[in-house]
Amino acid sequence: MKVPNHIAIILDGNGRWAKAKGMPRALGHKQGSKNVEDMCEIMDDIGVKYFTVYAFSTENWNRPDKEVTGIMSLLRNYLKTGIKRANKNNMRIRILGDISRLDEDLQESIVETEKATAANTGLQFQMALNYGSRDEIRRAVTKIAEKVEAGDLKATDITEDTISASLDTAGIPDPDLLIRTSGEQRLSNYLLWQCAYTEFYFTDKHWPDFNKEELLKAIDSYNNRDRRYGKVTEE
Ligand code: IPE
Ligand code: IPE
Ligand code: MG
Repeated sequence: MKVPNHIAIILDGNGRWAKAKGMPRALGHKQGSKNVEDMCEIMDDIGVKYFTVYAFSTENWNRPDKEVTGIMSLLRNYLKTGIKRANKNNMRIRILGDISRLDEDLQESIVETEKATAANTGLQFQMALNYGSRDEIRRAVTKIAEKVEAGDLKATDITEDTISASLDTAGIPDPDLLIRTSGEQRLSNYLLWQCAYTEFYFTDKHWPDFNKEELLKAIDSYNNRDRRYGKVTEE
């Protein structure tokens, strides 16, 4: 079995998972957050090098205040123990997205976590927070335009690599496999540039129920794909 180098997940269905059990949505998010921690260990165990989850989108601010506050407090808890756990597992944590809209204490914890785990060489874990791919591309274009304005870059020298290197995922290889849980089959503004040649896998399982067995099913499906990158494959 060929293990993908980079797996990206759109973790969806926390709310539906809770609803099906007659529980409040907040409990679904709590269970979902625990599953992110478990999944990092599983990814590392099976030999995945990069794992990127979509935890909070630029559009998720439109949810009720109480739900947003609940998700932010789960993030706060996650970051509290994050450095210790990451260093124990040699895991590097990076955040994708515009963190400037988050509470100041969260921004500080994020900077500290990224710094404290930067030299770890095991699982490279990315969490997308206040992330939207269109916003990421907009920010990248601004950065590039500023270089052109300053005379440090010629407009005609802008390559695809210039753009990749200006995104939040700079230096991180594109995902090989993208998984979305809970039945929806859309990208919801996730990694639009980076998923140009990524294989997609959709499952009806809600995120809190997505476990090692389900991950192996996704990887098995990936192994049966014929990745072409625009080429023809042999008859
Ligand atoms: C995913 O679960 C978590 C976030 C988007 C923050 P949802 O909260 O979207 O769960 P459903 O889709 O309503 O079931
Ligand atoms: C996508 O899930 C965003 C995250 C997983 C963070 P949503 O549940 O917010 O997406 P839509 O609204 O179904 O497209
Ligand atoms: Mg959802």
